[in-house]
Amino acid sequence: MDTILILDFGSQTTQLIGRRIRDLGVYTEIVPGDADLAGILPPDTAKTDAPGGLRGIILSGSPESVYSPEGAVPDRRIYECGLPLLGICYGLQRMNYDNGGRVEPLPKREYGAVGVTAAPGALFPEGGRFTAWMSHGDTLTVLAPGFEQAGTSDTGYPAVVVHRGKPWFGLQFHPEVTHCERGAEILSAFVFGICGCKKEWSMEAYVETVRSSLEAKAGASPVLLLVSGGVDSTVAAALLLKTLGPEQVHLMYMDTGLMRKDETVQVKAALEKLGARYLHIVMCEDEFLSALKGKSDPEEKRKTIGDLFISIQEREVSRLGLPPDYFLAQGTLYTDLIESGKGVGKKAHLIKSHHNVGSPLVDAKREEGRIIEPLDQLYKDEVRALGRVLDVSPDVAGRHPFPGPGLAVRIIGEVTKEKCDVLREADAIFIEELKKRPAGGKSLYDDIWQAFAVLLPIRSVGVAGDERRYGWVLALRAITSVDGMTADVYPFPPKDLIEIATRITNTVKDIGRVTYDISSKPPATIEWE
Ligand code: XMP
Repeated sequence: MDTILILDFGSQTTQLIGRRIRDLGVYTEIVPGDADLAGILPPDTAKTDAPGGLRGIILSGSPESVYSPEGAVPDRRIYECGLPLLGICYGLQRMNYDNGGRVEPLPKREYGAVGVTAAPGALFPEGGRFTAWMSHGDTLTVLAPGFEQAGTSDTGYPAVVVHRGKPWFGLQFHPEVTHCERGAEILSAFVFGICGCKKEWSMEAYVETVRSSLEAKAGASPVLLLVSGGVDSTVAAALLLKTLGPEQVHLMYMDTGLMRKDETVQVKAALEKLGARYLHIVMCEDEFLSALKGKSDPEEKRKTIGDLFISIQEREVSRLGLPPDYFLAQGTLYTDLIESGKGVGKKAHLIKSHHNVGSPLVDAKREEGRIIEPLDQLYKDEVRALGRVLDVSPDVAGRHPFPGPGLAVRIIGEVTKEKCDVLREADAIFIEELKKRPAGGKSLYDDIWQAFAVLLPIRSVGVAGDERRYGWVLALRAITSVDGMTADVYPFPPKDLIEIATRITNTVKDIGRVTYDISSKPPATIEWE
């Protein structure tokens, strides 16, 4: 299959480059920026027919500078193999520096939208002006021999650089970022016009790629997947069941009592519909609720849940009696890894570590090389598209994300069974209303990235009939986002919001008042705890 190789120097947007190119229908592979490429690159310039259909290489950005010892150096062979190269930000600086040019710090870091004027050429057939997206602290001050400036930013720095004799291109800006005008056009010109790739990548092709890599990796050993009922683990289950077959796949699901209304019943039905044969459902509500008793500090709650999750998981996995060579699978996405500082590139900088990508069991299996994460290069909406190909029901594939600690992070303060029940009821009404209300050709639910209710530890006075009532306050949260890393408040039509709030206060007797959370991320997070 025609492939574009991406050298990852640690930029937060490296995966996004892969994502954009996959959107164009072309397969990408991402490897660390300093990976040894022997056997991957064509041996010499005369033979540009690389193994595996490699057609071009993209050098990603990086938080480092080319002068820093932390800045990874690519395998020199990329400059000798004759394949087209596209350097993005640090990638451009790297190409320039490695080939005899100079790179120096800017007096002031350039960040955000910057105008660029480009001359007509292979990347810009028409040339012209557009708004690019920059994030750099260094610039090219002397071009390497053979390089020529083909575009300039409004701030006067080289923005586009091309080589006179080789198919080498460099951009000081980030075409993969949606705010960059013409970004998709530029990547398309590189991938199709310059590298000559054919559109051979699709979700169906992805399933086949996973099939061969799983067969090679797991052989006939059993694979245990921990499922949460969310989109990611359900799609991962569907993928394993389809590629390895139901006999080899064990699924384990824990009902912590912190789940949404009817969740366990729905999860069971969805997994059985996908052909699951060995489905182990562990009911552990009592254990979780008693461990959470009296705890109201958010960190303490999260830690209690995380620790208990791990100990129950270990206990239940050992009860299954799988042979020691079993593989452990997780529905981890790329964004989960990067948010935990475990991104593909060695240099991916740590942002936060709240995702459930680690436990002693997972760590041990990772150490043994027996971990399978078949979605770890995908973005959420690609996972949904994969789910559709795998016949995951649209209800599950389109489901909003749900955090590992469940309702515990949506009940502010101490968690009790009564509060879980009240929140479950109110949340179910909110979601049901969103699903039945239209929003420009789809439902409000499908237009929103994530929506949920939060139970606040506040009670307020109201009236019910002739009586004064002292009910809980509920906050509704609905956001739009691309990957959960940033989020905007969903701009509800007031009518919908008011009607939904009215139905909740009329139906859930313990809720006396409803508010709508109008905070974006950053500075607020999506969840309240
Ligand atoms: P925040 O609240 O950090 O959430 O803005 C970003 C996305 O991650 C989800 N989230 C979690 N998911 N375990 C998870 O699996 C967690 O501990 C966790 N905390 C937040 C959140 O629902 C949102 O989609």
